[in-house]
Amino acid sequence: MLKSSMALGYIILVCLFNGSLAQLNQRLFPDDFMFGAATAAYQVEGGWDEDGKGVSIWDDFFHSQGANETGDVACDSYHKWREDVENAKNLGLQFYRLSIAWTRILPDGTLGNINQKGIDYYLNVLKALKENNIEPVVTIYHWDAPLHISKLGGFLSSAIVDYFGDYARLLFQTFGEYVKYWITVNEPTIVCELGYGMDVFPPALALIGDGIYQCGYNLLKAHAHAYHIYEDEFKATQKGKITIVTECAWYEPNDPTSTQDLETRERAIQFRLGWFANAVYLGNWPQVMIDRIGNRSQAEGLSKSRLPQFTQEEIDYINGTHDYFALNTYGTVNVTYTPEAPPGEASYWTDLEVTNSDTYDDPQGIRKLLNWINNRYNPGEIIISENGKVNDGGLDDDDRIEYISGYLSSILDAIYEDNLNVIGYGVWSIMDNFEWGSYDKRFGLIEVDFDSPNKTRTWKKSAYWYQDVINRRCLATTCQENIL
Ligand code: BGC
Repeated sequence: MLKSSMALGYIILVCLFNGSLAQLNQRLFPDDFMFGAATAAYQVEGGWDEDGKGVSIWDDFFHSQGANETGDVACDSYHKWREDVENAKNLGLQFYRLSIAWTRILPDGTLGNINQKGIDYYLNVLKALKENNIEPVVTIYHWDAPLHISKLGGFLSSAIVDYFGDYARLLFQTFGEYVKYWITVNEPTIVCELGYGMDVFPPALALIGDGIYQCGYNLLKAHAHAYHIYEDEFKATQKGKITIVTECAWYEPNDPTSTQDLETRERAIQFRLGWFANAVYLGNWPQVMIDRIGNRSQAEGLSKSRLPQFTQEEIDYINGTHDYFALNTYGTVNVTYTPEAPPGEASYWTDLEVTNSDTYDDPQGIRKLLNWINNRYNPGEIIISENGKVNDGGLDDDDRIEYISGYLSSILDAIYEDNLNVIGYGVWSIMDNFEWGSYDKRFGLIEVDFDSPNKTRTWKKSAYWYQDVINRRCLATTCQENIL
């Protein structure tokens, strides 16, 4: 009896060992690794004023310019969501990332008017995804603030904290049963830099010296408020996870032997990723931001720093507001030391002071960035919430296959060689969509014919390729050879 159970134990051990060795040798993705793809409401939905939806800052931004290209119709996912779910299913996706349009649920952003038709739309989508065993990853805010909330000050005002909290609570109450992965805000750096620091995105305030930092301050408090609402009122019953999405390129020193370039690299990452991740994972802004912006503000004659100072209570409230690490990353940038400019016009750019190259594709960059994150933040589970390749379009998108394959291979290195806990990867995007002002920049696995009334979807070569990777759970370069 003893002998036979020992033999059984041995057989089980050998099988387990061989199983994981096979996984390693063939570089199979771990069993629980989730392949996904991402979208955002304004970029795909269209239906900008249908069924009671209110006006967002993006609707207003393009309409007031009389722009030819807008998100009014986009991929028309507001009507074609069944086909989108079908495509996600046929690709074999394990998760589908979507965002909720705040104005579809709350037309003016406040609880004063709740739009049932908007709620029904997302309920249909979420239920359909669940029925097809696809995990929805839901972003609460992917840049499309209600115009009304923006007029009240948007992220320049601390009033946003409660408005955002009310909106988030309603989403948890209404959709929480179907959602295991929540994201409060997508890419706060972009929101604050392009919308508050510059005039590239709405609300186009161009306050590069101070508004940009006020935005970051209120945004982090809004994020933390939503996190705590979920934690205190919903997590125990709904058992989901919630975090913020940070965005960062990998930065390489132009001269790897130059201490100054190396320091510049560190500062560049801290001003980008650290700007938000530091407060969420460690408490407070990165010290280099506190010091540089503080010193420069003083030299400019200001009585306090342009970077708002957190109270200890705020630090404690924001610190730890993450259940997983969600990272968007697209490429690598080379940085060169640049001497600090004398005080003059206040700007995020002179606060940072760096000369950088254009962003370029570099699959090794993601592994280095993941290690950088792991060394500083003890991030727990990591999901790559966006990564993808832009081109001018066409079905033969070998460049996209090469790009995604390189980045996935590098993620496998991070998992198997660096022991990092990367649990998922989301391609931006499942389909071509409205790239915030342009339909010419194509990111999709699936082509969308924006000239056709039907917004016809056609699978590109990369869609078939990704389907195959998901199906075999490995990359073609490695999974053929069965070494064992
Ligand atoms: C954003 C997406 C955008 C993508 C490609 C990310 O920064 O979250 O909305 O379309 O990059 O530019």
